[in-house]
Amino acid sequence: MKGWQFKGSRDCEEASPLAPNGLSDPNRLYIFDTTLRDGEQSPGCSMRHDEKLHMARHLADLGVDLLEAGFPISSDGDFAAVKAIAQEITDGPVIAGLARCRAEDINAVVRALEPAPRKRIHVFLASSDVHLEFKLKISRQQALDQVGESVGHARQHADDVEFSAEDATRSDIEFLIQMINVAVESGATTINLPDTVGYTTPDETARMFRTVRQRVTNADKLIFSAHCHDDLGLAVANSLAAVEAGARQVECTINGIGERAGNAALEEVATLLRVRNDRVAVSTNIRHDKLYSASQLLSSFISFGPAPNKAIVGANAFAHEAGIHQHGMLANPLCYEIMTPESVGQPCNRMVLGKHSGRRALAHHLSELGYQLEGAELDAYYHRFTTLADRKKNIYDQDLIALVTDREPQHATPAFVTAPDHKAVAQPTA
Ligand code: KIV
Ligand code: ZN
Repeated sequence: MKGWQFKGSRDCEEASPLAPNGLSDPNRLYIFDTTLRDGEQSPGCSMRHDEKLHMARHLADLGVDLLEAGFPISSDGDFAAVKAIAQEITDGPVIAGLARCRAEDINAVVRALEPAPRKRIHVFLASSDVHLEFKLKISRQQALDQVGESVGHARQHADDVEFSAEDATRSDIEFLIQMINVAVESGATTINLPDTVGYTTPDETARMFRTVRQRVTNADKLIFSAHCHDDLGLAVANSLAAVEAGARQVECTINGIGERAGNAALEEVATLLRVRNDRVAVSTNIRHDKLYSASQLLSSFISFGPAPNKAIVGANAFAHEAGIHQHGMLANPLCYEIMTPESVGQPCNRMVLGKHSGRRALAHHLSELGYQLEGAELDAYYHRFTTLADRKKNIYDQDLIALVTDREPQHATPAFVTAPDHKAVAQPTA
């Protein structure tokens, strides 16, 4: 971990006049959740309207600071979901909607976010030559003009405007700075530098953030943000490097879902900053004991769950099999455990629930997952549970969560499950 020493962010010490929606504490890392946008747009991750709303409620409860609810221009369904989330989640996160640098995109975000008391318009345009030349087929000057016009348009409708320079990490740094300056002069308050293709490394990420922060106009009044994809398995490490270099917003998703190999996993970023707070002295608003249930809830909606060896939320993340490890754990958990399962909301009790289980065991397990059921509600739940257990051999936490909302577990079986001997075995989908 050499080289990860937090250097402290000095020039954001004053509350930033440009940071709206109360997001100006230099010691806070703002968690921008994009599970419902970057995550939802990836294969196997589409969710129904009611599932998006349910997920949004859980994310608000989890303590995310910003919730990107969707890309309203992309479909009527996305528009309706962003609008419903803006209507319902009025206490907690700032609700964001994504727009390309086009008036109709921005207008759609404005309409969808209309009911939200705290809102952000998130506008993006590519800054790399490869995107400008082959995808957008526009010149650098045309790109700068579009950014100026679109960010200015967005600012007429919201105080809080984020500009993302798509593919920032493969862009010419001089042009990137020029583009960001145009965005800032046109009213952007958060500047996001995405590693769109998951290509960069932690040292390069830190250098890019430092250079941009040194050279951009009014940098001390802006919030810089990282948005890292995981194509080389570096999304979380790159996000951490960005934070060390002064970023105060990280964009991430539950279970790391997102385009291709996914985005930085929210549960990993939040837990890393908590467990290694000695190295990176920023705090988040995340309620860590809700991380596991967020992961399970998402898994109950989409077509796959986290791999068993996935950090923080995987079924084996706290399992010890080797004799020497078991011995060490029994002698003192500190030998092999840097955090407890309970600290991230993983039930410590691994009792197997099946059709012979009783109401009390079920109620206890549900309470560990954050659901308190009793009386008639528990009776009705128990009935649904035993019906399911009659026909399904393995019941997972995500099945239990699906049943809480009276849903048939649809895609509820993870791609891999943990056998009683902790060996991961392939499991046919239900
Ligand atoms: O990966 C990316 O560049 C994005 C932007 C739209 C922020 O998702
Ligand atoms: Zn992305």
